[in-house]
Amino acid sequence: MTIQWYPGHMAKAKRQMIEKIKQIDVVIELADSRIPSSSRNPLVGEIASDKPRLLILNKIDMADAEATRRWKNYFENEGLAVHLVNSQTGEGTSSIPEAVHHLTARRRSKMEKKGYRPHADRAMILGIPNVGKSTLINRMAGKKIAKIGDRPGITTAQQWIKVGKTMELLDTPGILWPKFDDPEVGLRLAATGAIKEELLDFQDIALFLLKIMVDRYRKQLAGRYDLPELPELTGSEEDHNKLIGLFDAIGKNRGCLVSGGLVDYDRTAEIIVRDYRRQKLGFLTLEMP
Ligand code: G4P
Repeated sequence: MTIQWYPGHMAKAKRQMIEKIKQIDVVIELADSRIPSSSRNPLVGEIASDKPRLLILNKIDMADAEATRRWKNYFENEGLAVHLVNSQTGEGTSSIPEAVHHLTARRRSKMEKKGYRPHADRAMILGIPNVGKSTLINRMAGKKIAKIGDRPGITTAQQWIKVGKTMELLDTPGILWPKFDDPEVGLRLAATGAIKEELLDFQDIALFLLKIMVDRYRKQLAGRYDLPELPELTGSEEDHNKLIGLFDAIGKNRGCLVSGGLVDYDRTAEIIVRDYRRQKLGFLTLEMP
């Protein structure tokens, strides 16, 4: 579903979320492990204001495990509580209530001191489209909650879902918009499918993936496309030509040719991007802390 994010939508979404968060004890921010920084909208800090926050990196099954470990350390050093999950299989999700409960300790002790019995920990999930918000909510609810679509903000009809003994989760996530002023962030979002690829040039996305693989995932790249030799990138202008050479080799190996034996760049680019999304290239994280 293509969404247009107009300034009016964003302002309204932000207002709605700030209002909603008044009833929430813990804000759960969901991001994609393959692009842990680019799949976040920095506005969460402002929206969550002084509420405790849990950053969940989802889709750990699709990311490079070592990179995920480094990202977790990185965010923890920044003072964030971090949790790793695969919402599709449920790995890591059963301990979310406990992580949330840990973050409400201060509030609970304050209430107890005042002689009140603390209520359940109320949490809400926020994140940009495609990070897995609906999948995680369904997983935690243990049933299928209607997909609300990628409208900005939050819709009005909502219910609290009881999760375990200590937590209540809002059944509708807060939808933030992807933020990509930086072109590389846009390429990462497009490569993972978080934004429509039509917004960018497909060949640019494929070249971007090739560059990352030449830098960090050489074995997977050479293995997938039968490339006996890979170039060394030096950070100079020459790199672009080296990547185009690689593109040519992949196109030829895959028989993506047009008349005259020239490589069909569009088809080759499509193969590379699809292969990445379908994990045929292995577990790749597209940015490092
Ligand atoms: P959203 O609400 O944040 O927009 O995301 P949603 O849950 O719709 O998930 C987006 C896509 O990511 C879905 O795939 C979903 O199955 C997949 N996904 C969510 N969490 C995980 C995870 O931990 N691991 C993996 N591998 N995939 C995950 P889809 O192809 O768009 O839809 P569908 O084919 O599952 O229906």
